[in-house]
Amino acid sequence: MAEYVWRHDLKGEAERLRLMSDLLDPPSRFHLSETGVGIGWRCLEIGAGNGSLSQWLAQRVGPTGHVIASDIRTDLMQGIAASNLEVRKFDVVNDEPSDAPYDLIAIRALLHHLPERRAVVSKVVRWLKPGGYLFVQEPDFYPTWTVEPLSQKRFWEQFIQWAAAHQIDYYVGRSIPAWLQAEGLIDISSEGHAILYNGGSPFAEWWDYGIREVADKLKAESGISQATLDEFYDLSRDPDYWTTTIAFTATTAQRRTGS
Ligand SMILES: C[S@@+](CC[C@H](N)C(=O)[O-])C[C@H]1O[C@@H](n2cnc3c(N)ncnc32)[C@H](O)[C@@H]1O
Repeated sequence: MAEYVWRHDLKGEAERLRLMSDLLDPPSRFHLSETGVGIGWRCLEIGAGNGSLSQWLAQRVGPTGHVIASDIRTDLMQGIAASNLEVRKFDVVNDEPSDAPYDLIAIRALLHHLPERRAVVSKVVRWLKPGGYLFVQEPDFYPTWTVEPLSQKRFWEQFIQWAAAHQIDYYVGRSIPAWLQAEGLIDISSEGHAILYNGGSPFAEWWDYGIREVADKLKAESGISQATLDEFYDLSRDPDYWTTTIAFTATTAQRRTGS
């Protein structure tokens, strides 16, 4: 198994995941609400990070429902708790859940990190109840193709190439709907949400954390120079600099009732 790059023990990772929750929970909740998730549902979140989305799901399903917030590392989930919320150490590549099937399985910002991403999709589809829903929200980095100045566009190209060498697929968001169709899921809906943000905003801060955590690796392995990184950090703090780097593709699909 490839090593997960943004490990929880990296300096700044808890804060990066907190920013990620703040930025992504509102659109994730919107799409999850569209499934009708509610009282009594049994849900599994995979790669839950700090568990913010599972905490929200636990409120939705009420005391008769059950939510499992699972991750290979559960150390950042100390902040979540509810009587119907279970925190579970779980490796989606190598483990099988003992209590499948579920009404809803949610995956956000995980598959792009997993070399086994396609096989994982096949696997999790089998853990859905007939009529159950799968929600997958993953990045697609096509907005980086438009980044200015040219030096920063080049930075993102090198970053994406470096990530690919670590078996991270930053374009996976666009593949998910076809994969779910091939798995026999129905009522597939998918949309990308590309955020325009300026320096100093929470989104810029999120990227600043993410890049600083891997800066040494980037310099050693990708040819990205300290000068390019310094320009990136400066722009990340510049309120007059607006850019767009990442779209999150949210895909929802349902298992056939008779399957
Ligand atoms: C980028 S974070 C996203 C966290 C959360 N889903 C969010 O969107 O805020 C990816 C998470 O996946 C977890 N992870 C990595 N490999 C995993 C695996 N094989 N099985 C389960 N979780 C995994 C990491 O520990 C990390 O918490």
